Amino acid sequence: MVMQTDVAGKPTSGLLEQGENTPDIHSALPGPIGEQIIERDEQVVSPSYTRSYPFVMDHGKGCMVWDVDGNRFIDFTAGVAVLSTGHCHPEVVKAVQQQAEKFIHMAGTDFYLPNAVELAETLCRVTPGDFDKQVFFTNSGTEAIEAAMKLCRHHTGRPVLISFLGAFHGRTYGSMSLSSSKSLHRTRYQPLVGGIYHAPFPNPYHSPFANVPTEQLGRACVDYIEKTMFRHLVSPDEVAGIFVEAIQGEGGYVVPPDDFYPALRELCDRHDIPLVVDEVQSGIGRTGKMFAIEHWGVEPDVVCIAKGIASGLPMGAIVARKSMMTWPSGAHANTYGGNALAVAAAITTLRLVEGGLMRNAVTVGEHMQKRLNTWIERYSFVGDVRGMGLMLGVEIVSDKATRAGDHDLRDRIVDECFAKGLLLLGAGPATIRFCPPLILDEATADEGLAVMEGVMDSI
Ligand SMILES: Cc1ncc(COP(=O)(O)O)c(C=O)c1O
Repeated sequence: MVMQTDVAGKPTSGLLEQGENTPDIHSALPGPIGEQIIERDEQVVSPSYTRSYPFVMDHGKGCMVWDVDGNRFIDFTAGVAVLSTGHCHPEVVKAVQQQAEKFIHMAGTDFYLPNAVELAETLCRVTPGDFDKQVFFTNSGTEAIEAAMKLCRHHTGRPVLISFLGAFHGRTYGSMSLSSSKSLHRTRYQPLVGGIYHAPFPNPYHSPFANVPTEQLGRACVDYIEKTMFRHLVSPDEVAGIFVEAIQGEGGYVVPPDDFYPALRELCDRHDIPLVVDEVQSGIGRTGKMFAIEHWGVEPDVVCIAKGIASGLPMGAIVARKSMMTWPSGAHANTYGGNALAVAAAITTLRLVEGGLMRNAVTVGEHMQKRLNTWIERYSFVGDVRGMGLMLGVEIVSDKATRAGDHDLRDRIVDECFAKGLLLLGAGPATIRFCPPLILDEATADEGLAVMEGVMDSI
């Protein structure tokens, strides 16, 4: 038996049988049972979902998943950066089971819930900034963004919101209106929420300003807001908030240069504009800090959280300066926010992330990045390797000189890795993203990367 352990030596992913951290594919993909389920799915489930290959989940353990035909895969997706503690972490399972026996739901909007108070206290402690804060619980990332949008407008009495090109903040009307990662997300949904403007994002590999050196790119984008947008489009005293993903996720795992966040914070301070950081994908230890914005020492006024917070239970939250939470009783609420099972999972998840998984994300992330970096020399089609901790991206290009993304080749690599037993996801036009569970160990990381190299060597 192999027991995966976190750096504190505690069991993290339960017991794996010897050799269970390698792929085992022994049927066609999908297999006969999976095929039947996909056929039924096609009859009754919306075609708008974005399935790129036919993985039909049966069960999961740690970083491994099994399909309904008994094939075993390494999971570098963690259900899109959600399963921070891996699949079915025994302590999360236990916490949810124990809570389910006590009560499952009791409307945090209308009643007081002790565990939700404990979680809110923890979130106030672990978010950046040594000032008083308050928490609003949601059920998802998009709902956290909606709450932050409403809070900014309510608190400031100003109408306008600014976000960045390439951003993804969600798919409900407000968050979709802030987003601009793909026009498909907006097609046939116009008109969107009004009063939203998009600024250029300092993408070092695909710079919006051709002649600006990377180390000055962040400042150049902030200058654009100040000198162009504030001059021609909107007065700063009408801006209720600036929304930014700490690291762009769906847009392609894009890490901004170091001068960006200090300049953006300074701009917001000068015009009394709340800075809202979307940590839905980058938060909860994934980058090696609890929140990615901490890498730049900047304290946002509002932090939006979801995905990794509850190891797979649907939960989100915003954590805002207490001085901003000026909305009165009834101004915003929901039915499920602070749901007891999600809260139990979140309290346990945060304990495990603080207790070692965050450090593990640094160690294993560095280990992976070292190997990924060798790919730039090794493969003519690997243009860029980037990221922090276990939020890593590899951009596939058709031409290293022009940096033109190769969308089809990226999809082909992802599909062929699936066929060999590794689950991956794309991000942006041509990036492969790595967002595995934070319990990933170096041996399993190497198994997954070896699968990729096998596929890429044959291209
Ligand atoms: C940065 C970011 N914000 C918001 C969202 C929306 O979260 P959800 O899908 O839970 O609504 C996502 C989802 O991918 C995201 O990556």
